[in-house]
Amino acid sequence: MNKEFNVQVAELDHLPYAEEICALIEDAAKQRGTGIAKREPEYIQGKIKDGKAVIALCGNDLAGFCYIETWSHGKYVANSGLIVSPKYRKSGLARRIKKEAFELSRKKYPDAKLFGITTSLAVMKINSDLGYKPVTFSELTTDEEFWKGCQSCPNYDILSRTKRKMCLCTGMLADPNEKTAAQEAENPQDASLEEHNVRSISK
Ligand SMILES: CC(C)(COP(=O)(O)OP(=O)(O)OC[C@H]1O[C@@H](n2cnc3c(N)ncnc32)[C@H](O)[C@@H]1OP(=O)(O)O)[C@@H](O)C(=O)NCCC(=O)NCCS
Repeated sequence: MNKEFNVQVAELDHLPYAEEICALIEDAAKQRGTGIAKREPEYIQGKIKDGKAVIALCGNDLAGFCYIETWSHGKYVANSGLIVSPKYRKSGLARRIKKEAFELSRKKYPDAKLFGITTSLAVMKINSDLGYKPVTFSELTTDEEFWKGCQSCPNYDILSRTKRKMCLCTGMLADPNEKTAAQEAENPQDASLEEHNVRSISK
């Protein structure tokens, strides 16, 4: 499929798409059997109004969506609710949406740790390429509100039994203070400079 997509931070013009976005998320959750928390259109509209959402359109047709949530008083940021319309899947659109959401998150919350939990191979691949690393749940937010979102998942009994230490999802984290291998390769002199500084300090 060779389609032209417009991927951008959602604006007020996009508010009327909220219901369709919720329906797409709900249908996908039913199909995957993950019991992902249902989103109400008002919630999605709030995210659009706050400039915390990314939308993808093909002409006027809704193609995909994602939004930003903050936890632990802004110390952690998650890019949630990723959805691509079934007819536009497997053409790299989720990759583009996640990249835009990643850049928006970094701009809005430069010091926050970006994280996600997922069972989706597609999301794991995309996150890895953005610099996320797999981590145990101990490295993620302890914000009760975030973990409450898992209550509607059929696997919640596992999360409860392990006292939130592990479950079927993989935790992934991108720490702004940790450079990716690609960044290191781009600026190897920074790395040696840092090493030099550490040595100087520890002398
Ligand atoms: C998951 C989802 C967002 C992927 O959207 P997409 O636009 O098809 O993804 P992309 O085309 O950008 O693919 C990104 C990568 O994932 C791979 N991928 C896509 N769908 C996949 C699948 N079902 N299984 C395994 N890999 C998949 C692609 O091959 C690509 O990898 P590559 O670049 O190494 O070839 C989409 O299938 C969806 O909306 N699913 C329902 C909702 C959902 O699961 N959301 C995630 C909740 S955590």
